[in-house]
Amino acid sequence: MRLDAFTLFPPSFDWFLGQRHVRNALELGHEIRLFDYRATTPLSAGQVDDAPYGGGAGMVLRVDVVDAALEAAYASERPRRVIALTASGRRFDDAFAAELTGEPHIALLCGRYEGLDERICEHLATDSVSIGPYVLSGGELAAMVVADAILRKLPGALGHEDSAVEESFSQSLGGAPEYPHYTRPDVYRGWAVPEVLRSGDHARIREWRLARSRERGGE
Ligand code: 6GU
Repeated sequence: MRLDAFTLFPPSFDWFLGQRHVRNALELGHEIRLFDYRATTPLSAGQVDDAPYGGGAGMVLRVDVVDAALEAAYASERPRRVIALTASGRRFDDAFAAELTGEPHIALLCGRYEGLDERICEHLATDSVSIGPYVLSGGELAAMVVADAILRKLPGALGHEDSAVEESFSQSLGGAPEYPHYTRPDVYRGWAVPEVLRSGDHARIREWRLARSRERGGE
């Protein structure tokens, strides 16, 4: 898979790119590229944003700037999925992450300031995505959240095949949160690990885990 992130702050991805599972994905042949809107802006002095029509606070990322960045990155063919990160987008969830894991090439468009010109979402992006009902100062953190949720589902990225299959909100748990986990010590300050997990009875353990997951419920 190739993941491209368009941003005004490429260095904000440094920490993310250093993460073990992200490096694993890159070693497996997946690609992550960063594109700086300022590097390809058609405006003078590196301008990328402008005041909102109709008035109001803050600045809005310009549609011509984003289009120029996409044009420079993709001569002939744009990725099948171009995803705008915006608080007003469709809520990101595990099912959407799983769907995106099957894509060969995805572009993530980060906005800053007050947001993106609506024409970016309408005409340049194929999807608009929000990671939750709160406002972030930019799309970069959201892009990393989306990228992380996708990358950890790629075979081999976690280094242990089963980890991403039966986890919270996955299909195998019917979209419910994951069951609780325990490790040593078996008793700590009187707080004991459930007996069933130490029984070695795999059928009972499975049943217990599914019941706990169901108890926690889905959305
Ligand atoms: Cl994708 N962007 C911003 N700026 N805020 C958000 C968001 C995205 N998702 C939730 N809040």
